[in-house]
Amino acid sequence: MPCGSERRVIESERLVLRPIELGDVDVLVRLDSDPEVMRYLTGRPSTREEVEAVVAEHLGHRWIASDRASGDFVGWFGLVPIGDSSFSVGYRLRREQWGRGLATEGTRLLIATAFDVHGARRVTAETMAVNTRSRSVMERCGMRYTRTFHMDWDDPLPGTEEGEVEYEITREEWQAAHSGDR
Ligand SMILES: CC(C)(COP(=O)(O)OP(=O)(O)OC[C@H]1O[C@@H](n2cnc3c(N)ncnc32)[C@H](O)[C@@H]1OP(=O)(O)O)[C@@H](O)C(=O)NCCC(=O)NCCS
Repeated sequence: MPCGSERRVIESERLVLRPIELGDVDVLVRLDSDPEVMRYLTGRPSTREEVEAVVAEHLGHRWIASDRASGDFVGWFGLVPIGDSSFSVGYRLRREQWGRGLATEGTRLLIATAFDVHGARRVTAETMAVNTRSRSVMERCGMRYTRTFHMDWDDPLPGTEEGEVEYEITREEWQAAHSGDR
């Protein structure tokens, strides 16, 4: 299996994550049509062509998440190898699913997958500094703030002036936090 390419279904207490497929475009276009979901991403709905390109690019690195009990579509989670035994984790949930702890639950599952299945050395995450909900997910997963950085955008979103933030967790930190789990 190529590093980072995880093609099986993985599950947590309340979520089922299955590998993303080209046939998921419709549901993902609907997800990206919510301005609140896109507020700190592009600030506008994605076009079908954009979603198709992103799905094709992320086959093997992104999962469709469903509520295990109801089967409802929750959103997606991603785990992308970024070199040097490091992975970047990401997530996007339907607004109806916010506030249930599901983003944290799915992200923890992918961090565990990175360390336990792929032998990762560290897992990182990035978001706009003003995206407090996303930063809270990172912190609840035990990730540490590492830096703020600034990027040049053609059409900057409100809050861009605060920059982007990066968080990380190392294998040692994860293992220390979860040594009692096994
Ligand atoms: C970022 C995002 C995934 C966060 O989702 P979220 O639901 O707020 O995150 P969590 O899963 O950690 O849920 C935490 C909330 O659930 C609540 N909660 C309810 N039941 C819970 C449970 N059983 N376990 C844990 N938390 C629970 C927590 O109290 C917390 O509530 P609060 O927001 O009032 O403080 C979501 O806002 C989103 O998809 N945003 C758009 C896309 C985006 O910005 N992605 C990140 C770009 S880098």
